[in-house]
Amino acid sequence: MMKRKPVAFGDLRGWIGALKAHDELAEINAEVDWNIELGTIMRLAQGPGTGRAMLFNNIKDYNRPDSRCRRVFGSALNNYRRIAIMLGLPPDTHPRELVKISRSILEGMIPPRTVNSGPVKENIVTGRDIDLTELPVPYWNRMDGGRYLITYAGVVSKDPTTGVMNVGVYRGMLAGRDKIPILMWRAQHIGHHVTAWLAQGEKEMPIAVAIGWEPSLGFCAGSPVPKGTCEYDVMGAMRGEPVELVKCETVDLHVPASAEIVIEGYLGLEPETYMMEGPYAEFTGYLASERSLKPTIRVTCISHRNDPILRGTIEGCLPGSYSENAVGSSIMRAATAWNVLDRAGVPGITDVWCPPVQAGINCLVRMQQTYRGQAKQAANALWGSTAAHVRYKHVTVVDDDIDVHDYAAVDWAIAHRVNAGENDIVIMPATFGLGLDPSTRRRDRNPALFGTGKWNRVLIDATQNIDYDPDPDLGGARFPPTVWPAEDDVAAAKARWHELGLDRKR
Ligand SMILES: Cc1cc2nc3c(=O)[nH]c(=O)nc-3n(C[C@H](O)[C@H](O)[C@H](O)COP(=O)(O)O)c2cc1C
Repeated sequence: MMKRKPVAFGDLRGWIGALKAHDELAEINAEVDWNIELGTIMRLAQGPGTGRAMLFNNIKDYNRPDSRCRRVFGSALNNYRRIAIMLGLPPDTHPRELVKISRSILEGMIPPRTVNSGPVKENIVTGRDIDLTELPVPYWNRMDGGRYLITYAGVVSKDPTTGVMNVGVYRGMLAGRDKIPILMWRAQHIGHHVTAWLAQGEKEMPIAVAIGWEPSLGFCAGSPVPKGTCEYDVMGAMRGEPVELVKCETVDLHVPASAEIVIEGYLGLEPETYMMEGPYAEFTGYLASERSLKPTIRVTCISHRNDPILRGTIEGCLPGSYSENAVGSSIMRAATAWNVLDRAGVPGITDVWCPPVQAGINCLVRMQQTYRGQAKQAANALWGSTAAHVRYKHVTVVDDDIDVHDYAAVDWAIAHRVNAGENDIVIMPATFGLGLDPSTRRRDRNPALFGTGKWNRVLIDATQNIDYDPDPDLGGARFPPTVWPAEDDVAAAKARWHELGLDRKR
C-alpha cells in the first residue's frame, strides 16, 4: 500500500487554500442567482469528474457588506485528484490505491479533543433572531420541493444510553425561519438513535448540523462507518490529528470548533410535528422521495464564523455529470465492502470497485476462487451487512484475471462466464434497500410505512464455474484457454516490432 502524509487543513478555508494551490478551484466573482442558476452552473461545470471545485463569491440578494453569509462552496470531492489531495497522496494516485488507503482509514481511530471555544462561536444567534433565510441557500434544481440547506453537512446526534455520537449526511429543506424537515430512514444510524430516544419516552431528539469544515467531514459522514464508531474518530484517522470539538450552545452535542456554520436544535419525534419535505433531485439522478411529512428540526441556535461560507453540493449523478456523493461513494463504498468481506472471512478478494456513475449501487468484486460457492459467500456477506442498506443492489464477482477498473474486461467476463441456468444469476428477493430507487414500486418507497426501501438484489457470478467437472482434454481446466498468444510467441513477435514498423506512434 502507498504511504501517505495525512493533512489537517484546519478548516474549510484551509482546504479551499490547498485546492487553489493545486489549481483545483474555480472562483466565480460575477453575480449568480441562488435560485436555480447556481445549481445549474454547478451541475454543468462538474462534468464526469473533470470540473474544478467551485466557490461562488457573489450571490444575488446576499452580496451586501452586511449580509450574514455571502458565499457558497461545492463540487469539491467529485474528482479523484482532489480526493487524493485530501488523503495526503500525490494527485494522480490511482483510485484503486484510494480504496485501499480508505480501507485502513475506516478501521483507524483518533478520538476527538474538546476545546473551550473556536471560530464557530464568533457569532451566536438565538431566539427571535434565528432566520435561516439569511443564508444563501440555493434552490438547486427546478423540480426540488424547496431550498435545500443540508446537502453535504454533518448531522450530529447521539445514542441516549452510550452517549456515542453519530455524524451522517441527511438532506434537509428550508421550511421557514427555524424549521428544517430532513429525510432519514430508520435503518440509518440516525434512525437507530431516533428509535432509542423514543424508547426513553422522549418527544424530541437533540441534533446539530455542522456545515463547512475540512473535507473529511462530509466524506466520513456520508460513508457507512460501522455502528458504535463515531465518525469524528474516523475523521481524526483521516487527517492524522484529533478533530477539535466545541460544545453546542443549546444541546448537549459537539461540533468542529472551526466549522463555518452550526445549526442546533431538536428533531421532533411525534408525527404531529412533521413538516412537508421533498421531492429532491436525488443521487440516483432521478427526482425522488415525493413531497411528504418528515421529521423536522426545530432550530434553537445558529452559530457561525465571521463572513461564513455555506458548504453545499448539487445532488444527482448522471452520465456526464458526477456528483460529490457518487465519486466519494465509489471510493468509500468500495473500501467498506472490502472491509465487510474481510471481516466476514471471505478469502481471496483482490480488488473491489464501485464505478462512480452509480455511486456503489453496483459493486464489482475480484477474487481468487479456490472453492465452489465463493462468489455467493461474498454476496451473502455484503448483503447481510448494515453497509448494504442503500448500496450493493447488484454484485458482480469476477476472477482474478479481470481488472474491475476496466469495464470492458468486466463486460467480457459477464458475456462469457455467466450462465443463468447454472446459478450464476441469483436473486435475493425483498431485502431492505434504497427507498429512492425509481425501479421500485411507489408504495415500497414510503419511509413512514416501512422505515426502508425494498430491493430484490442480484448476484452476477461472472467467475469460471468450479461446479463443472475438470476437463481432461483441457489439462484438468474447466474453461478453454483464451486466444491470447503464448509468452514465447509474444516475445518473438515483439522482437520484430521495430523492423515491421509497428512501433511508430500514431
Ligand atoms: C451528499 C449526500 C447526501 C445524502 N443524503 C442522505 C439523505 O437525505 N438521507 C439519508 O438517509 N442518507 C443520505 N446520505 C447517505 C448517508 O449519509 C450515508 O448512508 C451514511 O452512511 C449515513 O450515516 P450513518 O452510516 O451514520 O447512518 C447522503 C450522503 C451524501 C454523501
